[in-house]
Amino acid sequence: MTARRLPRRHDLAPLMRFKRPVLSPRERRLAAALTIDDLRRVAKRRTPRAAFDYTDGAADGEVSLSRARQAFADVEFHPSILRDVSKVDTSRDVLGARTALPFGIAPTGFTRLMQTEGETAGVTAAEAAGIPYTLSTMGTTSIEDVAAAAPGARKWFQLYMWKDRDRSMALVERAAKAGFDTLMVTVDVPVAGARLRDTRNGFTIPPTLTPRTVANALPRPTWWFNLLTTEPLAFASLDSWSGTVGELLDTMFDPTVTYDDLAWIRDQWPGKVSVKGVQTVDDARRLADAGVDAIVLSNHGGRQLDRAPVPFHLLPSVVDAVGTDAEVHLDTGIMSGQDVVAAIAHGARFTLIGRAYLYGLMAGGRPGVDRAIDILRGQLERTMRLLGVSSLDELEPRHVTALRRLVPRD
Ligand SMILES: Cc1cc2nc3c(=O)[nH]c(=O)nc-3n(C[C@H](O)[C@H](O)[C@H](O)COP(=O)(O)O)c2cc1C
Repeated sequence: MTARRLPRRHDLAPLMRFKRPVLSPRERRLAAALTIDDLRRVAKRRTPRAAFDYTDGAADGEVSLSRARQAFADVEFHPSILRDVSKVDTSRDVLGARTALPFGIAPTGFTRLMQTEGETAGVTAAEAAGIPYTLSTMGTTSIEDVAAAAPGARKWFQLYMWKDRDRSMALVERAAKAGFDTLMVTVDVPVAGARLRDTRNGFTIPPTLTPRTVANALPRPTWWFNLLTTEPLAFASLDSWSGTVGELLDTMFDPTVTYDDLAWIRDQWPGKVSVKGVQTVDDARRLADAGVDAIVLSNHGGRQLDRAPVPFHLLPSVVDAVGTDAEVHLDTGIMSGQDVVAAIAHGARFTLIGRAYLYGLMAGGRPGVDRAIDILRGQLERTMRLLGVSSLDELEPRHVTALRRLVPRD
């Protein structure tokens, strides 16, 4: 029989450590989010459906995106034990400069739609974290304003080739002048992917007010207040547009772009060049031969060709084929620091995050992007320690295997 006694005051005191309440609802919201999926849930509550779906959605059946995420979820980590992991170094050289973390912010178009702080939130958060920020051709803040917002940030500029070459080159010149050090040429948009959620939602640029959008707006007043009381939402580098995003892409972008055009762009740009949207070993090899500095294995977050190769599956053979001739970067499907570790272990020099930071942005503006980066950094450092490695270069393919059931058939 258990002997019992009355609790005494000094027994209770150590148990009663009340935390000081966090008064700002935004801080409370963000602090309660422990994963990128948590941020996504907050984002969904706070953002009108058409804007959330534009961000969250992908092309056709959204199979490319779900497979890419599944491939990361289905890795198996193999830890080494009894290593000194009191210190971990998450920094590395990427395209000629040191970055504090092995991930940077991917180019995303129309970013002020998600939350009014848009590109400014992204680039200032990147500056604070010591990671690169990529501004999209379809940005809603100008090249010069992005540069002025974060003079100390490392900035990359993403280029879509337009039918009007002179205008593409005018943008490139502005980016070089504003101190962007890398040109990232996106090559997987000869035409727009079929973003069915956008079509179903009647999503247009600029957003239109219909009875349905108004009904959906009522529970999300902050987003609408922001939209209506800040600089009108427009592409900062393009003429004004009204229509769907797909229609805009199809009008502007040039389906005749080839390797020759790439060589021409390369000659115009003084800094490093990376090519984003590479999806076969042959193309990766050809680009390395053409002298590009980095290849970004990506299927555009599943927003272009559906059922495209999973970049993480493609990674080992591309790293093998390219060797040290070009850096291999990777995006699509990264939702945690563990995903980043898996990609680095299989030879990616660097990774990019799209939605992971946009969920943070929608959940809470600049502090939300900070929170997304913090979550990924914490997961990355903890996973490295648990694997018994103290620097990124120690990560090797043996640390990460794919569960057999998801290994692609030969
Ligand atoms: C809302 C949104 C807008 C995007 N806009 C662009 C763009 O303008 N240019 C580009 O090269 N890629 C764009 N992308 C693709 C991202 O750069 C990146 O490849 C993709 O988001 C990576 O997948 P993840 O979202 O799973 O991280 C966009 C992605 C999203 C989600």
